[in-house]
Amino acid sequence: MWKNLFAAKPLSLIMEEMKTGKRLNRVLGPWQLAGVGIGGIIGTGIFVLTGVAAHDKAGPALILSFVVAGIACIFAALCYAEFAAMVPVAGSAYTYAYATLGELFAWIIGWDLVLEYTVASAAVAHGWSHYFQDFIGMFGISIPHILTNAPFDFNPILGKFFLTGTVCDFPAIVITFLIMGILVVGVQESASFNTVMVFIKLSVVLFVIVVGAFYIHPKNWVPFAPYGYTGIGFFGKTLLGRTDSAGNPLGVFAGAAIIFFAYIGFDAVSTQAEEAIEPQKSVPFGIITSLIVCTILYIAVTAVLTGMIPYKQINVDAPIAEAFKQVGLPWAQGLISIGALAGITSVLLVMMLSQPRVFLAMARDGLLPRKFFGAIHDKFKTPYKSTILTGIVVATMSSLIPLRVLAELGNIGTLLAFLIVCAAVLIMRKTHPHTERPFACPMVPWIPAGGIVTCLLLMFSLPVENWWSLFIWLSIGLVIYFFYSRHNSVLAEERRRIAARPDPA
Ligand code: ALA
Repeated sequence: MWKNLFAAKPLSLIMEEMKTGKRLNRVLGPWQLAGVGIGGIIGTGIFVLTGVAAHDKAGPALILSFVVAGIACIFAALCYAEFAAMVPVAGSAYTYAYATLGELFAWIIGWDLVLEYTVASAAVAHGWSHYFQDFIGMFGISIPHILTNAPFDFNPILGKFFLTGTVCDFPAIVITFLIMGILVVGVQESASFNTVMVFIKLSVVLFVIVVGAFYIHPKNWVPFAPYGYTGIGFFGKTLLGRTDSAGNPLGVFAGAAIIFFAYIGFDAVSTQAEEAIEPQKSVPFGIITSLIVCTILYIAVTAVLTGMIPYKQINVDAPIAEAFKQVGLPWAQGLISIGALAGITSVLLVMMLSQPRVFLAMARDGLLPRKFFGAIHDKFKTPYKSTILTGIVVATMSSLIPLRVLAELGNIGTLLAFLIVCAAVLIMRKTHPHTERPFACPMVPWIPAGGIVTCLLLMFSLPVENWWSLFIWLSIGLVIYFFYSRHNSVLAEERRRIAARPDPA
């Protein structure tokens, strides 16, 4: 049994399968893929979470937090790029794990990717709803209070849940179903819609950097690191640096663990490998280009934001729009809200595009019911059934579960996925040293090892509740694996068939 659990799917078989069965349409070029990456990256993280991270966790040194999280992501991105070029199929990290670490790990990472794509999508839909409500509020329009938020929230200082007096977050439901509709109709349509959204948000981000630069007062960067340069925790205990009243670490790393959410999304490019023209070149290009562009923009936006106003005056809900208001540019608030809305819409689109493609890969391997998760629409050529299911789950979670809970769970899940991909590159270099690598991660083993260490540091810097949530989530996944997937796995079936063959002798 143990042998089966850790049986890896041969790379040759993965490549062979690519030529058979119903496949997705190859329509995306390198710049469209970079657009998918940027579309998936810039959103709630920079427009919302920078506020709380600068105000409560890192101060102006949040600039360094973005550097730290960016380094972790660049290490992981180089590893993703190596795999994506080698195995350009829809499953992303799930498929890479199947080829290297075996079926059980593949299942674990596939299940874990639900945290990154579905749970983070729900967090993003929440962020969209708040910006939308702010935006219509500028025109004196509001929706009934009971439809504005999740019915409960979590207070991390008291460690308690409390009722918000609402029933659900209705705008989050509406945007989720709208995006779901676009995704069912086709990937080309989705990419075109994404391109428009990316253009709007990039224009607004550049506006923030260029105009904001004129309002920087260097004295706002002093003290630069009021919470310290470290802030590393370990299962709820702070190892290095200061702590807040609830015992959570403060400082550059603690800030990085929160704003890591801002970087989630570049790996979504790899889930679109099956829809890429010349995936061996265009997917690594899309992953690396989008991440580098966003890292530079993030560092610049944070430098501007913390330079414009003292960190203690940064607003925690709409930090960038409010900073412009505070320096006497209230008209910029509307423009920034439009950029944030466009940005968050495209993140939602890319995340919800990625989830069904991971399910598709898992269904093709028999780990999920093939009839449902493997179904591709005859006309639209999209995995429509699982796209609709993803939409329903995201809408339900985003309307009922608080943003904080969803975002933190998304962070730890993604960090685990990055860590496994870095480890898988190291393993693959040992087990398949001669396999053709159209893109090779440089400086192996240092870069994958650096990725593992930085991801672990960030995971440990998150509040301890996230670890428990991760364990619970993975335990549920293991139950499904042992009761369903293991018995229906195509690879296991194949082995059983070979074992049952009569001995020719
Ligand atoms: N990186 C994405 C965002 O910040 C998830 O919204």
